[in-house]
Amino acid sequence: MALVKRKGITISRQLMDEQRMFPEATGALTALMADLVVAGKIISAEVNMAGLADILGQSGRTNIQGEEVQKLDVFANKTFKRRMEQCGHICVMASEEEEDPVPALPGYEGNYTIAFDPLDGSSNVDVNVSVGTIFSIHRRLSPPGGPGTEADLLQPGSRQVVAGYIVYGSSTMIVYTSGSGVHGFTLDPSVGEFFLSHPNIQIPELARYYSVNEAYWPYWNDNIRDFVDYLRGSDKGHVPCSARYIGSLVSDFHRNLVKGGIYMYPRDTRSADKTAGKLRLLYEAAPLAMIVEQAGGSAVTDDGRRILDIVPERLHQRVPLIIGSKQDVAVALRFLKGER
Ligand code: AHG
Ligand code: MN
Ligand code: MN
Ligand code: MN
Repeated sequence: MALVKRKGITISRQLMDEQRMFPEATGALTALMADLVVAGKIISAEVNMAGLADILGQSGRTNIQGEEVQKLDVFANKTFKRRMEQCGHICVMASEEEEDPVPALPGYEGNYTIAFDPLDGSSNVDVNVSVGTIFSIHRRLSPPGGPGTEADLLQPGSRQVVAGYIVYGSSTMIVYTSGSGVHGFTLDPSVGEFFLSHPNIQIPELARYYSVNEAYWPYWNDNIRDFVDYLRGSDKGHVPCSARYIGSLVSDFHRNLVKGGIYMYPRDTRSADKTAGKLRLLYEAAPLAMIVEQAGGSAVTDDGRRILDIVPERLHQRVPLIIGSKQDVAVALRFLKGER
């Protein structure tokens, strides 16, 4: 649906307009998203004053990923879980910070599932660098009523109903798609509302930036190395990209989405758990893949599989990820096949 840049469209207005496109819609998804937006506002307020509250630094815990959990990871996870478990429209949820599926509160089960990365870019929280939240919503497969199942969560990204992220940066933005284009909303903290600021985002076909942690160069295969060399302008006639790597996937992805770019986290040989890269399919790669395809870009693994086609086998399954401007992802695939 082409969005005209009418002044002052709030995210609630946009969600209602999208609901009206489906006569059979019950309003459940709109209500779910309204609660998700509240969670985003709460986390944004906390992130923006993290330096003042006792909310920085490590929590002293390690999560299922084997990572040191930051206090803001815990806060964001608790906030999202609390809003979602009682919103009445979720039957089960998956979180990066929860080893197992989390059911809705008894009596509050609904017909959707949500998978989320409550705080993406945790290593950046106490150095005042932008971080984010990523979310992915599916329809439940199990019969309505009662708690959802793990199978409700293990669906391919192509079946997502809504995919989005919140980036807590110089401003707080929500960017999401429900299959009718990608729209960005910026929080006006003085009124506590998200207003449409980026209607119908389309990712430029050509990358201006490339985002990859080049410290892992020694652990990549030759095809990835050759492609990064190409991005640096080694091929005659190829305009070199600028390197930009923030270390928060959401922030690197958002810049590349708006300005044109390619983000890569390939598999590497550093350690056993990096043989499929670091990023998680359910709540990092799949939602961003839906967004980038809706914006005219591509998202694949480093052996050429389309991210949205992958059927998850485990909740925290990792996948290698190459995502961004269509032309550069296509060139990446040629390099990865050993073609030049
Ligand atoms: P998270 O903070 O949710 O665990 O995700 C961190 C991810 C991603 O945000 C970022 O791009 C990547 O890890 C950085 O990994 P490296 O430090 O290995 O580059
Ligand atoms: Mn983490
Ligand atoms: Mn993450
Ligand atoms: Mn995280």
